[in-house]
Amino acid sequence: MSGRTVLVTGGSRGIGLEIVRAFARQGDKVWFNDLREEQIRETEAQLASEGLHVAGRVCNVTSFDEVGALVDAIVETDGRLDVLVNNAGITRDSLMMRMAEEQWDLVMATNLKGCFNTIRHAVKPMMKQRQGRIVNIASVVGVMGNAGQANYSAAKAGVIGLTKTMARELASRNVLVNAVAPGFIETEMTAQLSEAAKAELSRQIPLGRHGQAADVAQVVLFLAGEASAYITGQVLQVDGGMHM
Ligand code: NAI
Repeated sequence: MSGRTVLVTGGSRGIGLEIVRAFARQGDKVWFNDLREEQIRETEAQLASEGLHVAGRVCNVTSFDEVGALVDAIVETDGRLDVLVNNAGITRDSLMMRMAEEQWDLVMATNLKGCFNTIRHAVKPMMKQRQGRIVNIASVVGVMGNAGQANYSAAKAGVIGLTKTMARELASRNVLVNAVAPGFIETEMTAQLSEAAKAELSRQIPLGRHGQAADVAQVVLFLAGEASAYITGQVLQVDGGMHM
């Protein structure tokens, strides 16, 4: 399954970077986007020092047109798009009592509409090819809810609904669509949590450790690979047993 063209959103750090690295290591042609040019160039240089050559582009997933231009550029260059991984995501946590409209809107625009924007553009080449894989990074809180994350958990639950509907719409074209719902993964996103919050979360994890970005990346590879050819519309929780 190597040599495919893959797009990973928000790929310059954290879970996205690990997904980019994992696809590149198995010989796929990897494109990724992110917000800041400097961070993108750093990521490309880091991976190049590991012998992995990937193509980063500045593109904000909240912009329908920017995403369209990126997908067009990929298809023009490689003639195809085999795998789309919707990883870009943000948190703007607050209890509902204090949540500002901007906090709600930005999380929805990034985490949920961002997935619409990429999928809307990617379905065209994938349907034409009669082959494709879409993996959406949701979250365990989209399944179980979490106080202080109404915007984020609603967006991630939306991603799960979108995943299931896309799986149904695209199955006849051999485009498989699944979601991964990570639990507590050590990245810059979770580094913002207090030590007390981290300790409390750890107590809820039967496997007794925090997840690593590679734990998620390996599952994304599986869902994009031949071994999962009969799986679509599923949500795979990668959370050390946090929620069952
Ligand atoms: P992170 O904050 O370390 O990385 C996210 C990346 O997405 C950053 O490089 C950021 O610049 C990029 N990004 C943000 N908004 C963007 C936009 N509008 N357009 C393009 N790129 C954008 O976060 P992390 O932890 O690596 O999370 C990756 C995904 O996994 C997110 O969707 C997140 O919600 C999800 N997730 C993370 C968990 C965790 O414990 N870290 C748990 C469950 C889900």
